Amino acid sequence: MRVDIVSIFPEYFSPLELSLIGKARASGLLDIAVHDLRTWTSDVHRTVDDTPYGGGPGMVMRPEPWAGALDAVTRPDSLLVVPSPVGTPFTQAAAHELATAPHLVFACGRYEGIDQRVLDDAATRMPVREVSLGDYVLFGGEVAVIVIMEAVTRLLPGVLGNADSLTEESHAAGLLEAPVYTKPAQWRGHEVPAVLRSGDHGRIARWRREQSLLRTAARRPDLLAGYPPERLDKHDRAA
Ligand code: ADE
Repeated sequence: MRVDIVSIFPEYFSPLELSLIGKARASGLLDIAVHDLRTWTSDVHRTVDDTPYGGGPGMVMRPEPWAGALDAVTRPDSLLVVPSPVGTPFTQAAAHELATAPHLVFACGRYEGIDQRVLDDAATRMPVREVSLGDYVLFGGEVAVIVIMEAVTRLLPGVLGNADSLTEESHAAGLLEAPVYTKPAQWRGHEVPAVLRSGDHGRIARWRREQSLLRTAARRPDLLAGYPPERLDKHDRAA
C-alpha cells in the first residue's frame, strides 16, 4: 500500500517509523511519504489560511495550496481521507474499507478546517472520506492520521505476525473482548479465573463468550443493541 500524508506539521509523523508500521515500511509492504503543505504556497510568508467568509472565529485553510498538493500526490486509484470532527465515525469497518485501497492520501486540516471546495473538487475525481475519531475536537488531523494508520496497517496481509489476533479481538465480531491474564496465577492477592487454568477448551470458550457479552452490555450497550439477534444462542441469552 502507498500512503501520502499532507500536513503543515510533517514532524508529527515520526511515530510511523516505529514498531510494526516501521517494520512494514522496511519490508516494502507499506510505502509512506509525508509532505509539507507549505511546499505548495507561493507567497513569502508561505500562507495556508485566511479569514472565513460569513465571519466567525478562527481561520480556514485556503484552497490553492491544497490544490497544488492534491494535484501532485493523487493518482487515478487514490482514496482521499480527511480527518475532521464533522466526518462520519471511524470504525473497524471503515478501517477494513481503507485497508483494501492501493493508495491512501491523508489531508490534515488545522484551524477551522479546509475550504469545502477542496473536498468537493477532489470528489469529482476520487472517493473522499471525511472521518471523525469521536465526538471531541483535536487541534488538527495529524494525530487522527496516526490512529487511522495503526488501525488500517494492522489489517494488511503480512503486517501482524499472528493473523488470528485479527479474528479474536474486540470489534472483530461486534462485541468487546473478554479480559486477559498471564502468569503468575496469583498476584497481589488477585487470582486468574480458575476456568482459564482448567485446560477445558469448551468451558474456556464459553466463559470468554459470557464475559464478552457482559462487558459489552455494561460498557457499550449501543454495540449490543446493534448485534444481530441470530448470532445469539441460548447460552448467550442466559448470560
Ligand atoms: N480533527 C479535529 N478533531 C477531530 C476528530 N475528532 N476526529 C478526526 N479528526 C479531527
